[in-house]
Amino acid sequence: TYVVTDNCIACKYTDCVEVCPVDCFYEGENMLVIHPDECIDCGVCEPECPADAIRPDTEPEMEKWVEFNRKYSEMWPVIITKKDQLPEAEERDGETGKLDKYFS
Ligand code: SF4
Ligand code: F3S
Repeated sequence: TYVVTDNCIACKYTDCVEVCPVDCFYEGENMLVIHPDECIDCGVCEPECPADAIRPDTEPEMEKWVEFNRKYSEMWPVIITKKDQLPEAEERDGETGKLDKYFS
């Protein structure tokens, strides 16, 4: 599976949802997640994210992100249409500590 990681937080560009063939992105207030059981591993969303927030779970230490994506994809509504990025997306791209700030 692919997963959305912390740099999506406070950016939420949503370019990713336009290309997913199985519509498996789910939307929270500050970020999106991918449902790990619905993702077919096609990889087309990865290069679409301007914040480079989408990673394959084959990279090191991705297990916590798989669980994070699973948890919130079961709570949040599906998103299938691109919308405007969050207002501070460009400034906050690359900021560290966003996970703790929003999900502690
Ligand atoms: Fe959708 Fe493919 Fe990205 Fe999985 S890898 S979320 S199926 S676009
Ligand atoms: Fe987030 Fe990147 Fe999609 S910032 S909303 S994963 S395009």
